[in-house]
Amino acid sequence: MADLDPARIPELDARLSTLAPVDRLRWAYETFGARAGIGTSFQPAGVVILHLAKTAGLPIQAFTLNTGLLFPETLEFKAKLEAHLGIKVEEVLPAQTVEQQAAQHGAELWKRDPEKCCELRKVDSLGKKLFDLDLWITGMRRDQSAERSVTPLLSLAARPDNSDVWKLNPLVDWSRDQVWAYLKEHGLPHNVLHDRGYRSIGCLPCTLPTSGGDERGGRWPGFEKKECGLHTRTKKGLGG
Ligand code: ADX
Ligand code: SF4
Repeated sequence: MADLDPARIPELDARLSTLAPVDRLRWAYETFGARAGIGTSFQPAGVVILHLAKTAGLPIQAFTLNTGLLFPETLEFKAKLEAHLGIKVEEVLPAQTVEQQAAQHGAELWKRDPEKCCELRKVDSLGKKLFDLDLWITGMRRDQSAERSVTPLLSLAARPDNSDVWKLNPLVDWSRDQVWAYLKEHGLPHNVLHDRGYRSIGCLPCTLPTSGGDERGGRWPGFEKKECGLHTRTKKGLGG
């Protein structure tokens, strides 16, 4: 692992904040090499990050957590984007299939206990993947929701055994409009669900289109839940 002292987070964060996203990614690859990984759900910010890395010649690995409950359109878009960029995005799967989960926890767990379902289908598989990485790169942005307005650029996250893994959100200070403008400028494709009013896209049973308010307002409709736990359950507190 890159020998970085967590005490340097404020200094590194301040320096990286002055850099363009592509230079933040360059730092990531130069510092962490094959132990850096981009996590993506194929939303516009992820497309930007994958394109920046590809065009800068940074062979940073990429992965997606396939819950088995994604929209067919998202899986079609994955294939389209891979072909467009000439990359491969690793699929990380949950320990159980949807059917095995239903047999153990009952059918449609997401309707009764979405927290548990996200833990089994997303958070646990991310935890497994984080053992392959020393730096986890995500597409989180501060303007996505009130909860995310204080998201740091660089922080420490926790693996399931509470060991440290660095976390970089290279587009944290970009607006939704900037992300979409980048896609347009570079002729990049997007998930067709965005054309049908979906502004934030997760699993099919837990995502609805929205017309206003927080970008993530269509996630887990009918529940108080605002986060799947990927970001909240791995939080270490250092750096943000
Ligand atoms: S989240 O609640 O699903 O995490 P959002 O859709 O806003 O929120 O995604 C924020 C970032 O979390 C994405 O840019 C991506 O880095 C990571 N992420 C979300 N879902 C996945 C997934 N299925 N696989 C890998 N990374 C993901
Ligand atoms: Fe389950 Fe819904 Fe979470 Fe997907 S978003 S893992 S279906 S609760």
